[in-house]
Amino acid sequence: MRILFLTHAFNSLTQRLYVELTALGHEIAVEFDINDSVSVEAVDLFRPHLILAPTLRRAIPEAIWREHVCLIVHPGIVGDRGPSALDWAILNGESEWGVTVLQAETEMDAGPVWASATFPMRAAKKSSLYRNEVAEATVRAVRSALERLPDYQAGIWMPEPQARGLARPLMQQTDRAIDWLRDDSARVLAKLNCGDGFPGVRDSLFEQPCHLYNASPYAAMGAPGALLGRVGEGVVRATTDGAVWIGHARTEAVGIKLPVAAVFPEVAALVELAEPVRDIFYEESAAVGYLRFDFYNGAMSTVACQRLLAAYESARQRPTKVIVLMGGEDFFSNGLDLNHIEAADSPPEESWRNINAMDDLCRAILTTESHLTVSALRGNAGAGGAFLALAADQVWARRGVVLNPHYKNMGNLYGSEYWSYSLPRRAGAEQAAAIMRNRLPLGAAAAARMGFLDATFGDDLPGFTAETRVRAEALATGADFNERLQAKRLRRAEDEAAKPLETWRAEELKQMQRNFYGFDPSYHVARHHFVRKTPHSWTPRHLAIHRELGWVVP
Ligand code: COA
Repeated sequence: MRILFLTHAFNSLTQRLYVELTALGHEIAVEFDINDSVSVEAVDLFRPHLILAPTLRRAIPEAIWREHVCLIVHPGIVGDRGPSALDWAILNGESEWGVTVLQAETEMDAGPVWASATFPMRAAKKSSLYRNEVAEATVRAVRSALERLPDYQAGIWMPEPQARGLARPLMQQTDRAIDWLRDDSARVLAKLNCGDGFPGVRDSLFEQPCHLYNASPYAAMGAPGALLGRVGEGVVRATTDGAVWIGHARTEAVGIKLPVAAVFPEVAALVELAEPVRDIFYEESAAVGYLRFDFYNGAMSTVACQRLLAAYESARQRPTKVIVLMGGEDFFSNGLDLNHIEAADSPPEESWRNINAMDDLCRAILTTESHLTVSALRGNAGAGGAFLALAADQVWARRGVVLNPHYKNMGNLYGSEYWSYSLPRRAGAEQAAAIMRNRLPLGAAAAARMGFLDATFGDDLPGFTAETRVRAEALATGADFNERLQAKRLRRAEDEAAKPLETWRAEELKQMQRNFYGFDPSYHVARHHFVRKTPHSWTPRHLAIHRELGWVVP
């Protein structure tokens, strides 16, 4: 089928549907919901068999839904309506939530139900639930809905009208407001989680108004509302029954979400609390070292890369046999920290420092001779973060992971992380060029077929993590361990003799230097829009295939 995605953004959920439905053999075109006439034009050009709206903030124009089957993905259970579905579910402490696929009609979210799926709720940020549970449930519900389409068209199945619904309003900052003198930690975390990543909770720190993000429980006690100290780049604030750690904040003046310590110099004067690190964790079992790095939004600043390199160097010193790089739960990595770069005194200088710190980390992994190394992608990876994964000997990913192994979407960035060495080696020169050129998301299964990944398994996070352990231990205890290590050393030596790693790096960085310091400001412009979340004014051509020159309806 030709399926048109009418969507607010090509975000993680839309990308996941894109890869799933493409894998089923459907042809997908994307049009951003910019205004009604543009949407109508897209429908006229693409002549879709079905219109799917994975993330829509406005109603579909009547001219479209009267003529075409339009299915809307609503991140709520059957009967739930309104624009803040997941926010309310978190704030109200629902134990189970779901996704409903309904047909567009006059009233938003009130059309008949084609399919639905539920999931148990988890104490987590809204964005994390959205990328994991909501995405999985959406795939299940959309698949069921598509299976029903032939019966609907044959007139032997009709979607279920919604008897009654509960329309909940857009959640306001007054609903999210934290009462530091009355709210316990669970309530404070629910309020912060339901606004993370967007819009955050309006509050104040050091008597300055700001929005708060990225909170987790912290074991400490103090006068409710008091700042008890700093941990990493965040602060610990007391609640009525404990404390929470708050990692990120945004002020109107800076306008970008940044670590609290980067926003407020006052943090430096706070006492440093006992538990120093919140984002890098190392553990060992059965001759395997597991290195988890859970940076907010997968963004890796210069300092984050340097800290991770130090942790990796320590892991290399251990008498283990395998090192598994686990990334974070939501993202393995998304490469350079664009927010940090945007806020720097000199974005070109900070970009340069950041890419060099990232390359240093990749080089350490690529040149590891003492261990076999594995990247185990629990979450999605994008741009440099996807190529960081390729620095390891083996790359495994959870089945639902979506990769964006390309840089061009960020203002034609050339990219580094030794991608020009590692990608063709895995995927072949032709496929490597296509991946970079197409700038499309890649599902785990397709990535494995191309050689980008070595294996994909695990339907959920616990399943993937458990199997990663089994596979990593098997590598470490395998009778062929020494043989594998020897083969890896030999290959590296041969590759180095053919073309030193430093040369690959220098070639990539020469291009990056142009991107950062050159005459063409595309990267700086693209980064500015990405970080400031400028609304789209048109759909990129590689997604709006119906707008390609020469497009004809097959
Ligand atoms: N630096 C800083 N923030 C980043 C980031 C990065 N490299 N990558 C993602 N984020 C942030 C987003 O701004 C967003 O912030 P929010 O919490 O305020 O909403 C959040 O992470 C989630 O990103 P989003 O784009 O909504 O996620 P997605 O799953 O829909 O898309 C990507 C994933 C990777 C395709 C997209 O985030 C992206 O293109 N990132 C930039 C990658 C890049 O170019 N890195 C630099 C070159 S190495």
